Amino acid sequence: MSEKTTDKSELKVSKIKNGTVIDHIAAGTALLVLEMLGITGREGTKVTLSLNVQSKKKTKKDIVKVENRILDKKEINQISLISPRATINEIKNFTVVNKFKVELPEEVHGFPKCINPKCITNAREPPKHSYFVKSSDPLKIRCKYCNTNMNKQDIVKMLLKYQGLTK
Ligand code: CTP
Ligand code: ZN
Repeated sequence: MSEKTTDKSELKVSKIKNGTVIDHIAAGTALLVLEMLGITGREGTKVTLSLNVQSKKKTKKDIVKVENRILDKKEINQISLISPRATINEIKNFTVVNKFKVELPEEVHGFPKCINPKCITNAREPPKHSYFVKSSDPLKIRCKYCNTNMNKQDIVKMLLKYQGLTK
């Protein structure tokens, strides 16, 4: 198990009974993942966070464990934009019943808000955001309506600023 360690000073994070473990999140970005999923902690459900912990490959990663929640396709696509190598583990009765890697889609729909304030998608209600994924590393998406390019920083900015509106 990835959290197991020979270093006795390190706290082992417990397994969850039912829910989702988002593993192999890019180190230091788990708080962003929580923001995108709209998890504040005030929901009252158990959420465990590990930031900058060692993975089996001896590199650093983040882990988010959310009890009693299954992620939908849109949420998984959002995570793929921020953390393209994350793994989603669905847990039922303490067992991993489904494991898959997030995948950067060829097109992104419904989020984020276009960074161009004059874009037609920002005037429509409900907004219909739609992008072509032009490149994955460095990440670049292009608005289908106004052709504005957005990089990772733009995407994070718009996701965090307007998350409530784009859901
Ligand atoms: N996990 C958990 N609760 C469970 C089962 C698994 O929190 N009831 C967590 C594990 O701690 C791990 C992730 O879910 O972070 C995936 O579990 P598993 O597939 O057993 O671990 P690995 O084989 O190490 O996963 P991978 O090969 O994807 O790194
Ligand atoms: Zn646009």
